[in-house]
Amino acid sequence: MHDIIRQLDEKRAAARLGGGEQRIEAQHAKGKLTARERIELLLDPDSFEEWDMFVEHRCADFGMGEQKVPGDGVVTGYGTVNGRLVFVFSQDFTVFGGALSEAHAEKICKIMDHALKTGAPVIGLNDSGGARIQEGVASLGGYADVFQRNVLASGVIPQISVIMGPCAGGAVYSPAMTDFIVMVKDTSYMFVTGPEVVKTVTHEEVTAEELGGAVTHSTRSGVADRAFDNDVEALVMVRRLVNFLPPNNREKPPVRPTTDGADRLDYSLDTLVPDNPNSAYDIKELVFKVVDDTDFLELAPDYARNIVIGFGRMEGATVGIVANQPLVLAGCLDIRSSIKAARFVRFCDAFNIPLITFVDVPGFMPGTAQEYGGIIKHGAKLLYAYAEATVPKVTVITRKAYGGAYDVMSSKHLRGDVNFAWPSAEIAVMGPKGAVEIIFRKDLADPHKIAARTEEYRRKFANPFVAGSRGFIDDVIMPHETRKRICRSLAMLREKKLDNPWRKHGNIPL
Ligand code: HXC
Repeated sequence: MHDIIRQLDEKRAAARLGGGEQRIEAQHAKGKLTARERIELLLDPDSFEEWDMFVEHRCADFGMGEQKVPGDGVVTGYGTVNGRLVFVFSQDFTVFGGALSEAHAEKICKIMDHALKTGAPVIGLNDSGGARIQEGVASLGGYADVFQRNVLASGVIPQISVIMGPCAGGAVYSPAMTDFIVMVKDTSYMFVTGPEVVKTVTHEEVTAEELGGAVTHSTRSGVADRAFDNDVEALVMVRRLVNFLPPNNREKPPVRPTTDGADRLDYSLDTLVPDNPNSAYDIKELVFKVVDDTDFLELAPDYARNIVIGFGRMEGATVGIVANQPLVLAGCLDIRSSIKAARFVRFCDAFNIPLITFVDVPGFMPGTAQEYGGIIKHGAKLLYAYAEATVPKVTVITRKAYGGAYDVMSSKHLRGDVNFAWPSAEIAVMGPKGAVEIIFRKDLADPHKIAARTEEYRRKFANPFVAGSRGFIDDVIMPHETRKRICRSLAMLREKKLDNPWRKHGNIPL
């Protein structure tokens, strides 16, 4: 018996060593942690239950029969994050460059299947040279098996991808179908075709980092939700993210006790909106002051900055926040911000997370770039997402709510449950200047007349009371009581039930 136990210990030790000391050192020299070190940081101490440590590949070609490493380049299992169950896979670059074999894929599929059965999130730590070249189509099949599960799990359990090394070719499409992508600067990259192929086909010279690094994807493409300087910071953020999420689509998000009172007033908000309607202010100040304990986890902070999205809590319960940002492009809606917010709204709706929307939007962004880029279709995504959402929806218009953008931003007409406006709200088809120039075109030559007309329009429409008189706004509230009024609304909506008509699925304008 002693011998058997010793052998088991030895086998385990060999598996834990992955590709060996030298490759581990090389991994560290690149500033990267190993697959196991990452899991240790991600999960609660001593909570990791590893599976399939002794799985090996079955390939005999190209001398692979003699090269077997227990675990086959991916560490899989489950554990807890702040006591809550999550499933995890962590690709081990020290073993065949983390390349995905058939057996490697089966390990990932196994934990995904269990995550679906038990209703718990999946977190994937990606660090892989892609398809295991020696295995050919068997490896491609393995990827497709993972893709299929990504799709079936979408909207059922949260899926989070952390890119901590290479992730290239078709392999990018697994993370792409998960809910959140976090990247590490300088050590991770994602692209469909690498710099060499790009150079051959388009004659562009670009480095891997420029083409698909963390900064590129968190600022230019919007593929990544967050970028961090190193593995540790990325994993700490993922733990924080998990704390906000429900384990699956049948449960409510977790409630964290707070001492921050639901009736807390903040008088500094009364002066947040400048007197000049053309001056900007930072909507994040409102977000931070409204949520519990100023704890707001922003997503995609450096992409489409004209809209702010992220998670906070109200009375301890998770909420999703969407807010136009007047500091960037005056907070207008464009292609990027519409897509960014639409995807977030759909995530929140799928996972029972109430939506709070702060509106200060002058309209959709004009221009050929937007029209040729398909703002019609992309703007419709946000409209569609809000309109189909059945979670509690509370909206606060702080200033401008003009034109179609007024309708889109969780208006009463799209089944907004509670719609508030601050006294500074201007709810109209367009701003006073534009409106007067159209309807009083004949007076354009006379600046006095135009000024008088503009003032008349401003008095009549640049306020919340016209919308209030129709019941499109439930109440005009003082800025300082925003938190209190939202908390009460959410408490009232806690047991909200609303179903959309049965259908196989809708046809969101993709
Ligand atoms: C088998 C691989 C591998 C792969 C790397 N290795 N990628 N083995 N299949 N795809 C092995 C290397 O042979 C090497 O083994 C070890 O991993 C480390 O690789 P290095 O090249 O030494 O590391 P580095 O210099 O850091 O470069 C990493 C890399 C490079 C950029 C990922 O290895 C690379 O370009 N690999 C090929 C990538 C690729 O073309 N993959 C297929 C993509 S298509 P030894 O024993 O020497 O240490 C794809 C399709 C998916 O993935 C389709 C899904 C639908």
